[in-house]
Amino acid sequence: MRINKYIASCGVASRRKAEELILDKKVRVNGNIIEELSYQVDENKDIVEVDNIKITLDERMVYLLLNKPEGYITTVKDQFDRPSVLDLLSDVKERVFPVGRLDYETSGLLLLTNDGDLTYKLTHPKHEIDKTYVAKVKGILIEDEIKNFREGLYIENYKTAPAKLKVLDSDKVKNISTLEIKIHEGKNRQVRKMCKAINHPVLRLKRVAMGKISLKNCKIGEYRYLTEDEVKYLKNI
Ligand code: URA
Repeated sequence: MRINKYIASCGVASRRKAEELILDKKVRVNGNIIEELSYQVDENKDIVEVDNIKITLDERMVYLLLNKPEGYITTVKDQFDRPSVLDLLSDVKERVFPVGRLDYETSGLLLLTNDGDLTYKLTHPKHEIDKTYVAKVKGILIEDEIKNFREGLYIENYKTAPAKLKVLDSDKVKNISTLEIKIHEGKNRQVRKMCKAINHPVLRLKRVAMGKISLKNCKIGEYRYLTEDEVKYLKNI
């Protein structure tokens, strides 16, 4: 099996991340650092180590949904030592990692798993699943802005794919609108950039669903295990 797939199947990282680990010289097979991304692992006899820890194929797969609070990063650690979503999962034994990202200031639905293959699939541009956000933005939207947003607009040099936008509430006194936004792409800070492009900067942002998976009654800062049906649904996307 190709080395990046093997690492993903062990639940250590997504395939893409596994390639980064290889390039960072953090992967050894039988004691030797692997440099070749296409290296083939013999699952029956090779000893594979990542960061000097032996990895094996028999780890239980877990699938979690966290209601992420604002003020947490979705990577393991950063240079500012800000709290990580992994700090909220201290009683989960398995080494899970987030499926995609949410900004430090964004709250809401974040999937985490040690199933690298599923992460790879869900974050691959070909499969990217619909993500639903509720955004509080500055100002009251006019028809032309809504139309531009829906049809796709330029953020930096990139034209976004058609998106869905519903105005849930417009508070003319406070000059704030509440929007439901659905996109299937996952560019960095995409919703914030799209709202800014129509001159309605985001004040608060929360992800409420990924495809058919929703927060249900998972409270902020808490997590739940996905149901079997939810896992099946994600695997069949
Ligand atoms: N879009 C954003 O701007 N931020 C997120 O966290 C997710 C999507």
